[in-house]
Amino acid sequence: MNETIEVILKRRSIRLFTEESVEEEKIRLLLEAGMAGPSAVNAQPWEFVVITEKPILEKFRGALMFAKMAAPLVICVLGSRRMQKSRVGDKFWVQDCSAATENILLAATALGLGSVWVGVHPIALFERQVKSILNLPTGVTPLNLIYIGYPAESKEARTQYDEKRVHWGPFQGESGEKGDEEVSKRYEINAKESNENDNAAVQ
Ligand SMILES: Cc1cc2nc3c(=O)[nH]c(=O)nc-3n(C[C@H](O)[C@H](O)[C@H](O)COP(=O)(O)O)c2cc1C
Repeated sequence: MNETIEVILKRRSIRLFTEESVEEEKIRLLLEAGMAGPSAVNAQPWEFVVITEKPILEKFRGALMFAKMAAPLVICVLGSRRMQKSRVGDKFWVQDCSAATENILLAATALGLGSVWVGVHPIALFERQVKSILNLPTGVTPLNLIYIGYPAESKEARTQYDEKRVHWGPFQGESGEKGDEEVSKRYEINAKESNENDNAAVQ
């Protein structure tokens, strides 16, 4: 299989880490991967906070409900109105910073590191907690925390390919037809199940 596709399928949320610290050279590669991401009109509406200080890592674990993992490195991805190269970033910063985040997760996998995305924005409480712990200035918003370290658990590479979610060409028929109703119902059930699974996964 193609090497890049292998890394994409191998990336899994890793929540158990060894105590070994991540080399500075690797941290720089992760940041470089993040900043290589696409952004609307190349506004690059991001900044990154690199945390390896144990007392700060402990504060994250103490404060944030879904961030109890012990990782030696956390990268906080910030949406940055103060550094974005265009006002277009006001609209697209979540998408742009999410692309940067996924690049970091994939680079971590390729470098033999484990990682997990911990969501912060748009939960106001989590945003306030991270702002306070990191003493963030105005003009930036924390999108997430990426927990990173050498993995102390291994997970299978996997595909989640689901043909039902693929539409080869445009939808057929008018909206409001019976078929649509059935799909909507199925969607509601799936959304409920998926929320339950997510809650289980982050606890
Ligand atoms: C926006 C977002 C927020 C997430 N927040 C958390 C979190 O707070 N804590 C956590 O342990 N995992 C979190 N995750 C990881 C998901 O639980 C995980 O990606 C999902 O269960 C699929 O598993 P996989 O990453 O191994 O493919 C988050 C993922 C995303 C994309």
